[in-house]
Amino acid sequence: MNKEVVLSGIRPTGFLHLGNYFGAMRNYVKMQDEFNCYFFVANWHALTTHPDTRELKTAVHRVVAENVACGLNPEKVAFYVQSDVPEIAELYLFLNMLAYMGELEKTVTFKEKVRLQPDNVNAGLLTYPVLQAADILIHRAVKVPVGKDQEQHLEMARNFADRFNYRYGEVFPLPKAFNYGGELIKILSLTGEGKMSKSENQMATLYLADDDDTIRKKIMKAKTDQGPAEPNSVKPDYIENLFTMMRLVSTTDTVAKFEQDFNNSATGNVIIRYGDMKKQLAEDMISFIRPIREKAADLQQNHALLDKIIKQGADKARQSADATIQLVRKAVLG
Ligand code: TRP
Repeated sequence: MNKEVVLSGIRPTGFLHLGNYFGAMRNYVKMQDEFNCYFFVANWHALTTHPDTRELKTAVHRVVAENVACGLNPEKVAFYVQSDVPEIAELYLFLNMLAYMGELEKTVTFKEKVRLQPDNVNAGLLTYPVLQAADILIHRAVKVPVGKDQEQHLEMARNFADRFNYRYGEVFPLPKAFNYGGELIKILSLTGEGKMSKSENQMATLYLADDDDTIRKKIMKAKTDQGPAEPNSVKPDYIENLFTMMRLVSTTDTVAKFEQDFNNSATGNVIIRYGDMKKQLAEDMISFIRPIREKAADLQQNHALLDKIIKQGADKARQSADATIQLVRKAVLG
């Protein structure tokens, strides 16, 4: 039986963090056995916000190394760099004729970027969702594991695919955003405000590249308070977040102990010691991140192996892309 096609892209801007790991990368690793997976580094997309490319190649290599270190297997999936697959650019051209100014201007992420970089409102920003649709449709993918912030882009990809099929004949299945539903894990920043971020507020985010001391320092600085006023209180977001992280990297006994301490605490009788909890969390987090960091660092030094992985990915991706672009050319141009 043919496996369903899964695709997702990762922008090589900023550093991968714990939220990326539990929100995305871990799911990619789960999917690699079940589906026909395409994952790629979106270096063309990076140009819309990062025109200076001096560090782009290093950033692309880092993303590849970190994903492989997290368990993505380049033998099982096609793991490639977007710019190695020129068929995507050709499909982007065709799709641009089916995308309307009005809808592109209304896209939430576009309006956000206009606000953030008023001096560089380039056409690439405007057509970002069209390029993303080309990424997806070039492999005729049906499942796209992405976060909530990408759902509008997915809806646009579906619309472009639908318009294409209607005008030129059925080529594309309609792609859908995909996540593991109830298991979706959200990790907040260590201040409890917003999510961890690839580029902002770096002291409140745990990066997969952080060294042991940095991890310790960041966790010890994480926001806490004097403890709950009553037994069995609802945890404030920033405390719940420490427990969330602990559930991900510590033993169940450790989590149970601190849960119990929290639930038994009340004003005048505070049992939970957040200092101890953070110390424990820091050590368990270090044990979790260290092997990933070390594996990724080794791979980043090994250019021959990196090049081999990237080439292998490009070969697989281009084979699939070529089959689709042939159908597209025939449908549009005859
Ligand atoms: N826009 C996505 C993000 O910002 C990255 C991306 C590019 C992507 N092309 C894609 C995601 C195709 C899924 C499918 O995270």
